[in-house]
Amino acid sequence: MKRLITTAMLAALAVAGFMRVARAQDQDPPLEPRVLAYDKGPAKIDVSKYPAPLQKSYKLFLAKCGHCHTPARAINCDFVLDDEWERYVKRMMRKAGSYITPDEGKAIYEFVVYDSKTRKKDLYDKKLKEAGKPGSDR
Ligand code: HEC
Repeated sequence: MKRLITTAMLAALAVAGFMRVARAQDQDPPLEPRVLAYDKGPAKIDVSKYPAPLQKSYKLFLAKCGHCHTPARAINCDFVLDDEWERYVKRMMRKAGSYITPDEGKAIYEFVVYDSKTRKKDLYDKKLKEAGKPGSDR
C-alpha cells in the first residue's frame, strides 16, 4: 500500500513538472539582441511616394504591427521575401487572435511586400538571388 502511494505521488509530481514545461513553452522566449536592435531603429517609413492604397495600408500596419511591440521591429527586420512575410504575418496574426482580421492581414502583407521591394530593394534582390528563385509578383 505504501508503495502504491509513493508511486502515485511520483506520478503526480511528474505530471506537475510536465505541465510547468508545457506552460513555459507557451510564453515568448527572451528577445534576441538582433530583435532588440530592430526596436531601436526608425519607427516610421516615408510612404509619400507609395501608391495611395498602400499609404492607407501603412496606417493599418503602424496600428496593428505596433500594438504589442514598436512598429520599428517590423520596419527594421530582415524579412523581405514574399514567403518570409507570408509566414510572419500569419504568425503575428495567430499571436494577435482576432485583433488582426484576415482582410487586415492581407492588406498588411501587401504593404510589407511592396515596402520590401522598394525601401529594402538591395536586401530583397540579394535574398532572392540566394534563394535561387525567379522574381515572384504574387
Ligand atoms: C499580439 C502581439 C503582437 C502583434 C499584434 C504583432 N506582433 Fe510581432 N511580435 C510579437 C512578439 C511577442 C514577438 C517576439 C517573439 C516572436 O518572434 O514571435 C514579435 C516579433 C516580431 C518580429 C521579429 C521577428 C524576428 O525574429 O526577426 C517581427 C519582424 C514582427 N514581430 C513583426 C510584426 C508584424 C509585421 C506585425 C503586424 C502584422 C506584428 N509583428 C504584430 C507580438 C506581436
